[in-house]
Amino acid sequence: MPVIDIHNHFFPRQWPDLAARYGTPNWPWIKHTEPGKAEIMVGDRFFRKIYSACWDPEVRLSEMDRDGIEIQILSATPVLFAYERPVEHALDCAQLFNDAALDLCGQGKGRLKSLCQVPLQNIDASCKELARCMRAGHLGVQIGNHVGEKNLDDPGIVTFLHHCADEGAAVLVHPWDMFGADRMQKYMMPWTVGMPAETQLGIVAMILGGAFDKLPAKLRICFAHGGGSFAFLLGRLENAWQHHPVAHGLCELPPRQYLPRFSVDSAVFDDRALQFLVGTMGAERVMLGSDYPFPLGEHRVGSLIRDSNLTPGEKSRLLGENASVFLALGSRQPAAAGSGQKAPIVPHDDQLTYSSYLKVPELLELQHPQSTPEHHDELLFIIVHQTYELWFKELLHDLDAVVANLQAAGTNPASHDEVYEAARLLRRCTEITRVLVEQFTILETMLPTHFMAFRGKLEPASGFQSEQFRELEFLCGLKDEKMLRYHRPTPEAHARLERRLRDPSLHDALFEALQAMGKLHFDSEATEPERFNARARAILSLYRDERSNRDWIDVCERLTEFDALVVSWRLRHIQLVERVIGVRMGTGGSAGSSYLKHTLDKKFFPELWEARTLLTE
Ligand code: HEM
Repeated sequence: MPVIDIHNHFFPRQWPDLAARYGTPNWPWIKHTEPGKAEIMVGDRFFRKIYSACWDPEVRLSEMDRDGIEIQILSATPVLFAYERPVEHALDCAQLFNDAALDLCGQGKGRLKSLCQVPLQNIDASCKELARCMRAGHLGVQIGNHVGEKNLDDPGIVTFLHHCADEGAAVLVHPWDMFGADRMQKYMMPWTVGMPAETQLGIVAMILGGAFDKLPAKLRICFAHGGGSFAFLLGRLENAWQHHPVAHGLCELPPRQYLPRFSVDSAVFDDRALQFLVGTMGAERVMLGSDYPFPLGEHRVGSLIRDSNLTPGEKSRLLGENASVFLALGSRQPAAAGSGQKAPIVPHDDQLTYSSYLKVPELLELQHPQSTPEHHDELLFIIVHQTYELWFKELLHDLDAVVANLQAAGTNPASHDEVYEAARLLRRCTEITRVLVEQFTILETMLPTHFMAFRGKLEPASGFQSEQFRELEFLCGLKDEKMLRYHRPTPEAHARLERRLRDPSLHDALFEALQAMGKLHFDSEATEPERFNARARAILSLYRDERSNRDWIDVCERLTEFDALVVSWRLRHIQLVERVIGVRMGTGGSAGSSYLKHTLDKKFFPELWEARTLLTE
């Protein structure tokens, strides 16, 4: 198992003048003072001395060899977070340093990997940047332990962490912007006192604020600097939780029960502190983290763990095994990070195979029939539903990209690329939906009597609870808040659907783009029926000038086809339902097929259909 340092930092050799780029003062810049040495300045203020290990891969790799470290996980430095700045500046800054990190990793012979940073003051922008970075090869994200007044239990930050879990991104929480600055002006007290307290505050806020109750267990999150003062003061927290209702917070369990939900790094610089930390957190929740190559970092990286009294098994977990799980290294494309990378140093067992890439063993473990003795057809029933859900996931993925492309098209009418890309992705969505309509035939090979043999075991589970189906409806523009009630038992799904209700839909994106391009006009006083009419007439105008609007017409045709195919899906589902349970009630408590028949009138883009009527005027 390679030795992995999950907490260390980099600065590029140089970067653009951010103050000039954004027209605001006090951005970090680098002042090279002599060969291999530099100072980080924040505006006119000296911030930190650094040396070439920050930017020179050769220096880094030779010091890693010296210390016996195989892999380093680099992060930028919190001074670059810019959470207090306008989001466009913070996003641009994050992108500069995220790309610089990959550039450095690309020269690291497969031994350097990275965590990105995001503009955490804006959750949508953060989610998008994280998704971009994960595709580009980052293994996760480093975030600060607060955004101004907001701690890590802030609903927006919880949404972002949810997104991290969905993306499979490892999260490293780093303290920053320390409180009590007025009383800690001397002796590096913000680092020695403020940082540990900030980190403790981050963990306590997540526990007591109920964040861990809302977040999925698959979230991989680690707190830097041994979790700050948290482990040492956990007893105090427990005592308050047990005896003072006001200290109880929103969490469902006593604080100690949340220890399995997060990890900490080993940067505590003291053998007894490390022993205590491992005793509190468990050896599977502490990972080598050094803060290299900064002056406050571990000078011989890994020596604290190697020279400790921990058992060989514990040392091996701390030095690399835990990090490998935390970073999901075993399940990743090895050459993801950066360009021109050579094969990374990972043991043979961790190399990618067909099965490990596709998670075939895990996938095949996911079918759990409820009937006893197991009914032969229940496996089919489960697999058909699971494949629908997988395709729903792909549809959401593609339709989100369609929305983004239409939004971009609206802001840049001269470019046609985004419109073509939207049409291309919509073609994929229609092909997937065509398969979904057909797929019901497989389930129709199940006799109604066979379904009855296990139907009773399913109640009250029902298609009403398909979160992704509802997400698809909301994303396309059919937003019905009442449907949220079926998702109350699953807070994560509920939160995702609430977000879909708030976010712009595909319907919004289409008409906002047309409006931005001057192809749709509303009177500000217009009623909804008048607006509907204006939208339908805007579509009509597109079709009437085919030569100029070919690309947009193609988008409209694909959307119309998608709309029609979803109605076909509803119809085939009803036919299946009647074939299997006749006109009986559903397990979700609806009137069954007679209820479902009402949904046949639902359309995502009624204006596209109305335009066809208008064409024949
Ligand atoms: C034996 C096969 C099936 C039967 C008897 C059946 C029955 C029903 C019934 C009666 C409803 C109405 C809600 C309720 O009261 O439960 C419903 C809704 C739903 N079913 Fe099925 N279903 C079957 C297969 C499927 C399959 C394969 C899918 C694929 C994902 C699916 C997805 C859904 C969805 C998404 C809804 C909600 C529809 C809406 O709200 O418009 N069902 N189903």
